Amino acid sequence: MSNSAATPTVLIARRLLPAGLDRLAASCELRQGGLDSDAERLRELAPGVDAIVSDPTVAVDEPLLDAAGPSLKVVANFAVGYDSIDVDACRRRGIPVTNTPDVLTNATAELALALTLAAARHVTEAEADLRAGRWTGWDPGAYLGVELSGATFAVVGLGRIGRRYAELVRGPAGEILYVGRTPKPDAEAELDAIRVSLADALAQADVVSLHVPGTPDNARLIGRAELAEMKPDAILVNTARGSVVDSAALAEALHDGTIGAAGLDVYEDEPRVPAELLAAPRCVLLPHIGSATVRARDAMASTVADNVLAALAGAEPPNRVA
Ligand code: 8YV
Repeated sequence: MSNSAATPTVLIARRLLPAGLDRLAASCELRQGGLDSDAERLRELAPGVDAIVSDPTVAVDEPLLDAAGPSLKVVANFAVGYDSIDVDACRRRGIPVTNTPDVLTNATAELALALTLAAARHVTEAEADLRAGRWTGWDPGAYLGVELSGATFAVVGLGRIGRRYAELVRGPAGEILYVGRTPKPDAEAELDAIRVSLADALAQADVVSLHVPGTPDNARLIGRAELAEMKPDAILVNTARGSVVDSAALAEALHDGTIGAAGLDVYEDEPRVPAELLAAPRCVLLPHIGSATVRARDAMASTVADNVLAALAGAEPPNRVA
């Protein structure tokens, strides 16, 4: 139970870095679930808390909100994507939900670029061969990739991260296409980006990079039919959410050469990585590290503290999304 009105209690569902944790600890009592906490443990820790700090691996659902009870004043997500939070349930209870936008834009866009380059040049497969002693000599025909200079890039979702990715590839890109619900005239002017339908983007692009939120509308946005529309050398990059891509269809497309390569940082049921993707050729797989830079993670942690402390003080949290 919350110990007193003067000292609010914050449930850190898993782990918060010191840049945010220390600021919260200065004026709040903390309950920390730790990296191994599961839904049951969180419900045990939740009764009477004033704030919950979640991350994308934590389901903030009716049972957890019920367990927290009427003392709960804010759910602060340590991430920009908040698809793991039942925002309708929070709204019904009048509990604000916050996220950490902007501070991870560069980090995530840069990782999408890293995946693009790694997939284009078979970097992880080549390195794995070298480390395993399978490199027996220079071979003019080995590890032949594609060049990105002059390539057509399609950015699916030209939000903050998608736009930053477009800026980063502006140098090598021949053309930048984007797919989005609304036209972005300023991006069109600054990046010479052209708004196209998803079908046109898939048909024309050498690289398709996904930057849409993991909403139900975007579930399996890229499935068998969409992969079949892509060029045989094309690269698919996903730093958004695993739910956006049908992983079985993607593995099949890589096996049969429907597309050239893929670079993925996110999966539908993390930390489980589908076996078919582990076995797929020309596929770079990373463990959800899009925002994993010191600068981004510290700023995310600090942003979480800003939001929690504002809400606990009765003020509007700066990054409210619901
Ligand atoms: C990771 C992210 O979730 O912000 C997001 O939505 O996906 C990333 O920031 C985060 O690094 C995991 O805590």
